[in-house]
Amino acid sequence: MQSVENSIETPWLRTHTCGDLNAAADGQSVNLSGWVAKRRDHGGLIFIDLRDRYGITQLVFNPAESESRDTVAAAETIRSEYVISIQGKVRRRPENMINPKITTGEIEVVVSTLHILSAAKTPPFVIDEHTDAGEALRLKYRYLDLRRPSIQNNLIIRHKVCHVVRDYLSRQNFLEIETPILFKSTPEGARDYLVPSRVNPGEFYALVQSPQIMKQLLMVGGMDRYFQIARCFRDEDLRADRQPEFSQIDIEMSFTNRELIYSIMEGLVKEVFTKIKGMDVSTPFPRMSYQTAMDEYGVDKPDTRYGLKIKDAASHFAKSDFQAFRSVLEAGGFVRGLHIDGKLLAKTPLSRKDLDELSKFAQQFGAKGLAWIRMENDANGALTFNSPIAKFLKDDEKAALQKDWNLQLGDLALFVADVNFDTMCASLGNLRTHLGKKLGLIDESLFNFLWVTDFPLFQYDADAKRYVACHHPFTSPSPSDEGKLLRGEDLGNLRAAAYDLVLNGFEVAGGSIRIFRQEVQQAMFRAMSFTPDEVQQKFGFFVEALQYGTPPHGGIAFGVDRLVMLLAGTDAIREVMAFPKTQKATCLMSECPSPVAIEQLTELHISLLKKQMAKD
Ligand code: AMO
Ligand code: AMP
Repeated sequence: MQSVENSIETPWLRTHTCGDLNAAADGQSVNLSGWVAKRRDHGGLIFIDLRDRYGITQLVFNPAESESRDTVAAAETIRSEYVISIQGKVRRRPENMINPKITTGEIEVVVSTLHILSAAKTPPFVIDEHTDAGEALRLKYRYLDLRRPSIQNNLIIRHKVCHVVRDYLSRQNFLEIETPILFKSTPEGARDYLVPSRVNPGEFYALVQSPQIMKQLLMVGGMDRYFQIARCFRDEDLRADRQPEFSQIDIEMSFTNRELIYSIMEGLVKEVFTKIKGMDVSTPFPRMSYQTAMDEYGVDKPDTRYGLKIKDAASHFAKSDFQAFRSVLEAGGFVRGLHIDGKLLAKTPLSRKDLDELSKFAQQFGAKGLAWIRMENDANGALTFNSPIAKFLKDDEKAALQKDWNLQLGDLALFVADVNFDTMCASLGNLRTHLGKKLGLIDESLFNFLWVTDFPLFQYDADAKRYVACHHPFTSPSPSDEGKLLRGEDLGNLRAAAYDLVLNGFEVAGGSIRIFRQEVQQAMFRAMSFTPDEVQQKFGFFVEALQYGTPPHGGIAFGVDRLVMLLAGTDAIREVMAFPKTQKATCLMSECPSPVAIEQLTELHISLLKKQMAKD
């Protein structure tokens, strides 16, 4: 850093940051500015830890060494979080005072001049890496929380990810193009955030859920390769990995196929991990069909860092006297379960009470119950089933199940029976994740990427009595299923040319090959029972655009926040956003959303329902 004359008007100009100085600077005169992290008085001698984004430097105020006694007197008035700037001289710390944990630990700065730039109220929580302040308080005073190194590091990682992504994609000929945030409601899954138009009474924009339509139009417009670090807005139920506004690395390319997209994205991820974590991730990433993911892991985003796969048990209960299971199977349902090795249970035993809790846990996801079998020795030392359902099973049925599942002494088997495939999957899939954590099966040092492919094209909406697109209506069917779509056959079993990138059980990206041929698009609308009027009203401009020469195209979008969350080793998306919202989509700092003046509403031609007004 260059030397700066300590100007009278702006004494805060720095020669160094609080993370710069080490023993090589011994004897140098320096100007530093920052926040007071800590002040310690040692009978006349005052030590201050000065903090900025780059680190912490120890300052010493010594009445014997300071140019003026006023400096030391002023230092006595300093409290935590004051902003100060100082001029002083670097000196090595005595050997026994060296702090190897910080980069500046070898030195301290003996202060000659002090400027108190701004005082600080006593902060509502101590700004420390290991703060025990609750999240609500930290969100209310987010600007103070931002002073903590862990949050700063997360934002630094985020910056670096965006930088690497821009650099990589630019090298691959992708153009960064901005698209509107105020747009028309798009046919994506979540509810829109609406914005009333003042100049067009009674009409609304929607904040984009993603730039999906616009990026496809950019392909029609001949842009060939596009990306954008785009803000997206979705009014949906929030979870630890979901925010109402979030960012995507949004990507689209022309004249492509799935393989080309996979390989460019694998290159992108590889570069991000090399540059940010210094880690080599091996490519190509493994792939798994949606069906296998659901069958073996119960979720479409499997965490493959550990086994504990779901196993089928239907054949063992089909003719048994256990009515609860048999009736499910007779109704065309499923009996599947998890087999937990006794060696794992030796380390983390599961008591009867634990089993009851697991049952309650599974029931949260719709399971009717959780049947269990423990493999134990009887009085004669023979392997036997300890289980509430043992009495319903004949000896040969038990023997067959034990052989098929390879149940050994000490093992535990858990079963869910359900007529509904999704309920069975959700119960066992979540139970698997829960047990993975509880039994310590997860190797936290792993980063397991996985392409999940061949998602269903449609799902049946029983309420509306029609098929709806699983991804969006512009997603192409798998090439082998195109004929069936054109003929309107077997709609429930068609596969989409859609893919998700999963990392350690989180969906970090999703995309698809898009439809570019008119007749396929029309067949898609027909399959979803859209009338021509509905098509016109919902996406008329877009369908029109596709009629002027559309290149084959496809793309993908990464959730920036989720990717950074995993890179930063946290499981809360809020920790990697500067100003996140709560689970209820509120900002505790600004207290938005909030009521607005009646004049503002009138100008927007909006009147609130009486009930709502009374609440305010
Ligand atoms: P999709 O809806 O799968 O695809 O979103 C892409 C990625 O964005 C992230 N994501 C979220 N992150 C935080 N909070 C949320 N509420 C949230 N919702 C989604 C996920 C997800 O994988 N237009 C398509 C992409 C395409 O087809 O190219 C789309 O938006 O990591
Ligand atoms: P019951 O005979 O109804 O008391 O059930 C015996 C055991 O089977 C209990 O542990 C229940 O939790 C379990 N059970 C009952 N129905 C189901 C089901 N559909 N799936 C899994 N377990 C079940």
